[in-house]
Amino acid sequence: MLAIPGPSRQNLGPIMSDLPLRSTIIGAGHYVPTKVVTNDDLAKLMTTSDEWIQQRSGIKERRFIEHDDIGASDLALPAAKMAIEHAGLQAKDIDAIIFATLSPDYNFPGSGVLLGNLLGLNGVPALDVRNQCSGFLYSLSVADAWVRAGVYKNVLIAGAEVHSTGIELADRGRDVAVLFGDGAGCAIVSRATDPNQGIKALRLHADGVGARDLMVEYPRSRRIPRITKELLDEGVHYPKMVGKQVFRWAVEKMPEVAQQVMDEAKLSVDDLDLFVPHQANMRINQMVGMKLNIPQEKIVHNIEKYGNTTAATIPLGLSEAWREGRCKRGSNILMAAFGAGYTWGGAVITL
Ligand code: ACO
Repeated sequence: MLAIPGPSRQNLGPIMSDLPLRSTIIGAGHYVPTKVVTNDDLAKLMTTSDEWIQQRSGIKERRFIEHDDIGASDLALPAAKMAIEHAGLQAKDIDAIIFATLSPDYNFPGSGVLLGNLLGLNGVPALDVRNQCSGFLYSLSVADAWVRAGVYKNVLIAGAEVHSTGIELADRGRDVAVLFGDGAGCAIVSRATDPNQGIKALRLHADGVGARDLMVEYPRSRRIPRITKELLDEGVHYPKMVGKQVFRWAVEKMPEVAQQVMDEAKLSVDDLDLFVPHQANMRINQMVGMKLNIPQEKIVHNIEKYGNTTAATIPLGLSEAWREGRCKRGSNILMAAFGAGYTWGGAVITL
């Protein structure tokens, strides 16, 4: 009978008897391009103002790629290297990659294989996750299951976006264009070694009722041809958002899922060291913090510097906070995200 090879267990030892009860994040890294774009810079391209953007979203500036031909995988590379080093590993120790992005380098193949290639990880599996702002938490759930099941030992999660080439920097696109920035965040998920460590609760949700509230409509495979010159002139290849509706859902669902995972992890707000929310809008995160009674000093905000970097926001925020000493091994971290789809999720993790 033909033996069908199972998933790689090369780093796991011969037997699965020592499977960990939990997985945890053992390292994080981040990278943002050097080009700073302020609200005043955008006001030269469209009818907007620093005051409007800051008041509505909390954003002061964001980063854009410095020049043409820099993709999400390129931004993820330095973030991945930083995370691997932070975890005390070498690239060769990574046995699976999960890449979360809504702005992949190409329509296909996914950015995961490109990152694997850049890291020299040829032959290592790479999965792309398309869950927008919740992409990191969806990826974390997959990595957690892989590690706990003994399928893979060290999983690299990359969240990276190049938004600047996909937004309309003109009056027509101003409602969306002012919100987004480029950047990357990575995390290494591996087995927890301490009994108190690990992902203690993780919940994911989706509701396609909101699919059309935030989307890029074209090119689309359900139309022949997928895009035309006329459609390009209409700007249908840029993201469209019903901002108020997304806002309403976000301020309801983020606290709901955050409370759900805290209850499941049997942790109270007092037990939390840090809340790392997705960064879509400072007002959303302040409202979520207020609903849950989380003091502002425990909440990670970096939207003022980077705007919304979608799948990158949570690992980027975690990586910065870790380096600033706002969390350390043993810290209890709450994460929550809401975004296009709609998709949302939450997690409680002890580092
Ligand atoms: N500059 C100046 N004026 C603007 C701009 C701009 N950049 N954009 C829109 N306006 C105008 C509008 O035209 C409107 O004018 P009108 O009243 O004359 O019609 C006015 O400002 C108010 O616009 P609103 O859309 O009502 O502004 P709102 O207070 O709702 O704030 C915002 C908009 C910031 C987008 C908010 O709705 C929001 O944060 N929504 C949620 C975003 C989010 O969470 N997205 C999900 C994550 S992203 C992802 O998953 C990919």
